[in-house]
Amino acid sequence: MDVLPAFWRLSGRTVLLIGAGEAAARKLRFLQRAGAGVRLFPMGETPHPDVAAALAAGAADGTVRRCDRPVCAADARDAALAIVAVEDEIDARAAVAVLRAARTPVNAVDRPQLCDFLFPAIVDRSPIVIGISSGGAAPVLARRVRAQIESLLPAGLGRLAAFADRFREAVKAMVPTGSGRKRFWEDFFDGAAAAAVLNGDEARGREATLKLLNARAAAAPPTGRVFLVGAGPGDPDLLTLKALQAMQRADVVLYDALIGPQILDYVRRDAERVPVGKRKGAHSLGQEAINALIVAHARAGRTVVRLKGGDPFLFGRGGEEQEACRAAGLDVEVVPGVTAALGAGAAFGLPLTHRDDAQTLSIVTGAAQGGAPALDWPALARPGQTVVVYMGVGAAERIAEALIAHGAPTDRPAAVIENATLPTQRVLTGALADLGRLVEEAQVSGPALLVIGEVVRRADPAALTQRAAAAPAPAAARAMAG
Ligand SMILES: C[S@@+](CC[C@H](N)C(=O)[O-])C[C@H]1O[C@@H](n2cnc3c(N)ncnc32)[C@H](O)[C@@H]1O
Repeated sequence: MDVLPAFWRLSGRTVLLIGAGEAAARKLRFLQRAGAGVRLFPMGETPHPDVAAALAAGAADGTVRRCDRPVCAADARDAALAIVAVEDEIDARAAVAVLRAARTPVNAVDRPQLCDFLFPAIVDRSPIVIGISSGGAAPVLARRVRAQIESLLPAGLGRLAAFADRFREAVKAMVPTGSGRKRFWEDFFDGAAAAAVLNGDEARGREATLKLLNARAAAAPPTGRVFLVGAGPGDPDLLTLKALQAMQRADVVLYDALIGPQILDYVRRDAERVPVGKRKGAHSLGQEAINALIVAHARAGRTVVRLKGGDPFLFGRGGEEQEACRAAGLDVEVVPGVTAALGAGAAFGLPLTHRDDAQTLSIVTGAAQGGAPALDWPALARPGQTVVVYMGVGAAERIAEALIAHGAPTDRPAAVIENATLPTQRVLTGALADLGRLVEEAQVSGPALLVIGEVVRRADPAALTQRAAAAPAPAAARAMAG
C-alpha cells in the first residue's frame, strides 16, 4: 500500500484553494459538501461559473472568501489543507513551494509528484463514504471501480446508516455486552428492519428494530456462532459471496496452511487471525485441539470462522468440526467452497466429465502410511472415468503401479496439477506409467492433485503453455501442449 486512506474532518476548518477554473470548481464542490470554509486564490483565472456562484453565496456567510494575491505562509497558519488547482505551471509550483515550506498538506491537481495527499474517486452514500485510489497510477481505472461499487450499493444506504445511528444509544443501553451488540447489529442489517429502511419505509423499520431490540434485551447473553467456510483452491476471486459475508462478520478466524494472504485480506480488519493448519514437517494443532479452540471461542460469544482450503466437507475434516460444535450446542453453518479438483479443471480447461471420455468422476485421497493408499483399485482402474487424487503426490508412483496392476493401460494420460488457480499454478502431463517420475522431476512443493484419465488430453493447449511458462519446470517433466 503506497498511500494510507484516511477521512479528513473539515467541518469548520479552513482549506486554501488556489485557482478558479474547472478543476478548482470540482474541488470546491467537495470541500463545501464536507463543510469546509474555503479561502480562494484565483491567481488571475476567470472564475468558473460554479466558482463565481459559490463566491457570491459564500461572501454573505463567509464560507468562501476570495484573496486576489498569491498565497503566502501566513495563509497557511490556520489552514487544514491546501489544494493547488491553478492551470499555470509556474504559479502552481510557486504555490506548492510556499505551502510545503509552511508544512500544510498539499494536493496539486493533475500533478501527482507535487501531492502530499491524493483525492480518491468517491462513492458518497453519506454517512457511508468510500474512497478509491490507484495512488495516481490509473485514475481512470479507479473511476471504473467506483462505477462498479456505485452499481452494487443500494441508493438508500446512507439513509440506513443514519437510521442505525439514531438507535445506537438505545442499543448500547439495552444490550450490555460488546459481542451482544455486534450480533444485534448483524441481525439488524440482515433482517426486516434494514430491508424496510432501504425501501424507504422508516416507520416499519422502526417497528422491526424495536421488536428485535426488545427480544435481544430479554434474551440470555448470546453464545457465539461458527461458520465452517470453504475458501476455494487459492484464487480469492473464487470465494463465494457467502464466504465473504462470513469472513466480514468474524471476530476470530482459524485458518489452514493452504489459505494464502490474498484470501486473508478479505477477513474483517480487526478480526483475530489464528493459523491452525499443517505445513509439511511443521508443527500444527491436532484436530481435537482445533475442535476445542473453535468451541472455546464460540462459547466466549465470538463469531468464529473456520476457514479451510477448497470445500470444508471434501477432505477438509469439516465433518468432525461440525460434530464438535453440535455436541457443544453451538450454531454452526457450513459455507461450501470450490474444491481443488474443480478449480484445477477450470484453470486448465480440463472438462473432468467430458461425455466422450468419462461417465464417472472419482475423487479419492492418496494419503497413505507407506505403501499404496487403501482404495478400490479394480474400480479405479476401469476405463470411462476420471480419477482425481488429493494428497497423492508422495504416493504417486505406488498409485500408478496399483492402477496398472489392476488393468489400467500404462499410457493412460495423467497430470500433476500444482497450486491450481494461483499465479504459480502449473500442470505437467505424461503417461500413467511415468507418473512417479513426473512428480519427482517436477519437484512439486505446493498443494497438488493427480488427475488420471482420457480427459487430460483435452486440456486447453493455450492455457497449458501459458501456465507452464509461468513456473519453470525441470527439463524432463513435459508441459503438455495438446
Ligand atoms: C486436506 S486436502 C483439502 C482439500 C480441500 N478441502 C478441497 O476441497 O480442495 C489438501 C489437498 O488438496 C489438494 N489441493 C488443495 N488446494 C490445491 C490447489 N490449489 N492445487 C492443487 N491441489 C490442491 C492437494 O492435494 C492438497 O494436498
